[in-house]
Amino acid sequence: MDSDTDVNRTEPLLALRGISKRFAGVRALDRVDLDVRAGELHVLFGENGAGKSTLINVVSGTFPADEGTFHFGGEEIRHLTPQRARAIGISPVFQEFSLVPSLTVEENLFLGREVSNGGVLLAREMRKRATALIDELGFDLDPSQRVDDLSRAHQQMAEIAKALLGRVRLLILDEPTASLTERETGRLFELIARLKRQNVGLIYVSHRMREIRALADRVTVLRDGRHIRTLEAASSTDGELVELMTGRKIDLLFPAITHQPDKVMVDVENLTLADGSVRDVNFYAQAGEITGIAGLVGCGKSELIRAIYGLAPIASGVVRLDGLPYEFPAPRRSLKHGVAYFPANRIAEGLALSRPIRENASMTALDLPAFARFGMLRQAAERVTITGIMERLQLRPPNIERTAGALSGGNRQKVMLGRALTRELTVFLFDEPSVGIDVGAKLEVYEFMKRLVEAGAAVIVVSSELPEVLALSNRLYVMHNGRIAAELKGAEKTEQNVLASFFRDHLTAEVA
Ligand SMILES: Nc1ncnc2c1ncn2[C@@H]1O[C@H](COP(=O)(O)OP(=O)(O)OP(=O)(O)O)[C@@H](O)[C@H]1O
Ligand SMILES: [Mg+2]
Repeated sequence: MDSDTDVNRTEPLLALRGISKRFAGVRALDRVDLDVRAGELHVLFGENGAGKSTLINVVSGTFPADEGTFHFGGEEIRHLTPQRARAIGISPVFQEFSLVPSLTVEENLFLGREVSNGGVLLAREMRKRATALIDELGFDLDPSQRVDDLSRAHQQMAEIAKALLGRVRLLILDEPTASLTERETGRLFELIARLKRQNVGLIYVSHRMREIRALADRVTVLRDGRHIRTLEAASSTDGELVELMTGRKIDLLFPAITHQPDKVMVDVENLTLADGSVRDVNFYAQAGEITGIAGLVGCGKSELIRAIYGLAPIASGVVRLDGLPYEFPAPRRSLKHGVAYFPANRIAEGLALSRPIRENASMTALDLPAFARFGMLRQAAERVTITGIMERLQLRPPNIERTAGALSGGNRQKVMLGRALTRELTVFLFDEPSVGIDVGAKLEVYEFMKRLVEAGAAVIVVSSELPEVLALSNRLYVMHNGRIAAELKGAEKTEQNVLASFFRDHLTAEVA
């Protein structure tokens, strides 16, 4: 993680001029300029599909730009490849993971740059370096574990570690915290501060306003592949950034939802999961209301709804749906019972990337014949329905016959969410619904939930974003260490009360 201080103060570390990139039918970048200074954290801000990841791919040599010039450290760069980018100190952490699942963390770290001595790989040397690096980062990560055995958060840590191996002058992070725990997010922010002091330049992509506020020196706003403006973070407001991003004024408020709690649709009694992540939990959700579950990452809140849907094995306890016991939950049967689940991890758990958006949204890609009864008219009916839904979610570009794999990260999330409206469902389980989607889409998702509950569905929202879950829910559970720490209603539903429950254990432990 060494760095350079040889960059002239007046000259930016990275200078892009007039960068354009086209994909079949889409102008992903249209004559974009970007300067990143040494020691600066530069945020790229824009709606889903604005071109942020594409720009990062150009900077890291994944593919060439169609036109434009590229200067790095004062030198003009042509024909950049990923290897060359690395060699000159450009180090990307991509939005989609790039690790080889069947290899260990350390094998991944050294892939393509194995430490060898006359052809002999120095396994011990690699282990030592990997351990030293991970220790320095403060990550709780075992270098000898296989990547496919790791949680999302740990995979993300491994990606970051990999990017920091060797000499880094420009570190690029594309939504790095989307699947990090709070603790690791804190570690990452410390690391960023350290790198800045070492004069490393950073490009950082995030949809999270609070993160942008905490980290950014400057912000470049992209819209529809174009450079809109570059601003000093300190002298810009959230409203201004959002307005530049969307081209219109947007109210950042949550919708007012009318909750009319009715039948208990989901009822969980003394639930304990096989992996111990949830212990002895009692919980219920009614039709006509949003039930929130708050808690720190790793508290068991995601596992709880995953178990209801059938994605996490149950050790003991009872799950009831609409009053009837639901034994050995499994995703397909859950859907038949009218229960839908929206994972936080949109890539691994949800989409068939080689299939059209239409199929993915209607779930025919998953072999669930949602529109089967239409026979010959199936495709046409499907197209009309999905087109309508995707219009509401502002899918970009709005063509549902493209493959899901050609979509930007946030737009993939929209396809996942779009599924909610294609079937007769009564229970909706949302796991971190707003991760990775832009402000406009967030508001759409909230409006969705509003429509769902007001039409009588039971909606359960698991979220680490406290303002979100406080504003949306009618009743709010707080989980801590696998257990329900509090249930808050009405006026009790305050940030202070939630935080008090997060930390109650620590407090009582100290008092005792
Ligand atoms: N491999 C590809 N093939 C075809 N089109 C693509 C491909 N990759 C990106 N695009 C298109 O280029 C545009 C920009 O996408 P990009 O991934 O850069 O967006 P983004 O700003 O990173 O969005 P998000 O916030 O959703 O991650 C989008 O219209 C997208 O559909
Ligand atoms: Mg992206």
